Amino acid sequence: MEDKQLYAKQLLQAVGGDIRAALTELKRVAANTVSQKKYEPKSQEVVIRTMGLQKQYKMGKATVSAIQDVTLAIHKGEFIAITGTSGSGKSTLLHLIGGLDQPSAGDIEVRGQNLRKLSDVKLSRFRNRTIGFVFQFFYLQPFLRLQTNVEVPAMFARTRRDRRATKSKATAEIVGLSDRLQHFPRELSGGQMQRAAIARALQNEPDILLADEPTGNLDHENAVAIFELFKKISTEQGTTIVVVTHDMALAAIADRAVQMKDGRILA
Ligand SMILES: Nc1ncnc2c1ncn2[C@@H]1O[C@H](COP(=O)(O)OP(=O)(O)O)[C@@H](O)[C@H]1O
Ligand SMILES: [Mg+2]
Repeated sequence: MEDKQLYAKQLLQAVGGDIRAALTELKRVAANTVSQKKYEPKSQEVVIRTMGLQKQYKMGKATVSAIQDVTLAIHKGEFIAITGTSGSGKSTLLHLIGGLDQPSAGDIEVRGQNLRKLSDVKLSRFRNRTIGFVFQFFYLQPFLRLQTNVEVPAMFARTRRDRRATKSKATAEIVGLSDRLQHFPRELSGGQMQRAAIARALQNEPDILLADEPTGNLDHENAVAIFELFKKISTEQGTTIVVVTHDMALAAIADRAVQMKDGRILA
């Protein structure tokens, strides 16, 4: 704390007492702290690789370039945050990685499998078995108890009932909701609902967890707790986690943060 006060004082002196200039400088330092944090992959194994990825949307006569030439390698067990302002292409990139959308050009490989070469049937099986999705709005079914909500992906994967129950109890334990499984979503707080959605995403033991603004509906304290939970899951389960957020302070909790601007990844 003293360090921070001293730094603030020095900074204010350096910019001639101009508080606005000091704030700009602080923001610049904070942004650099995120991007310059030394990144050492936990594993050499690349789980997600995008190569010259592009996505264009046709809007009448105009063409919107949502993603431009994105080349990125994400390693096994890595927890990576994708930051950037609204409209910079974060969601589009996440959807492409998750096989929810097709690129206009370039390639995506997940565990060495080129997603463009999968048929629709194989692509949905890939999503169900390999990827867990977490969204800003939790999409829990209000009329189902938490345990059933968590088990939904396992039902689609035709997992037997007793095995589903074992798994939902195990994932509830990971996210800290063991004592809430018989509750309905309306009996939970926002942070607990997002934990339940994360438990659901983990149900089929995915290699990859993709989360789009998962803390957009939470206060800062709960948001930090969710990011800490992602960190724990990536470390303890070896899950590769890609999280989109526009909050730099949260991004700093991840192993690595990359910033997007106008559809490109800033170096
Ligand atoms: N389905 C779509 N149709 C047309 N334009 C889209 C569509 N989805 C996204 N875009 C455009 O692509 C750009 C990137 O969007 P998006 O990936 O949602 O950004 P972010 O998630 O960073 O806010 C924006 O300009 C957006 O308007
Ligand atoms: Mg978005």
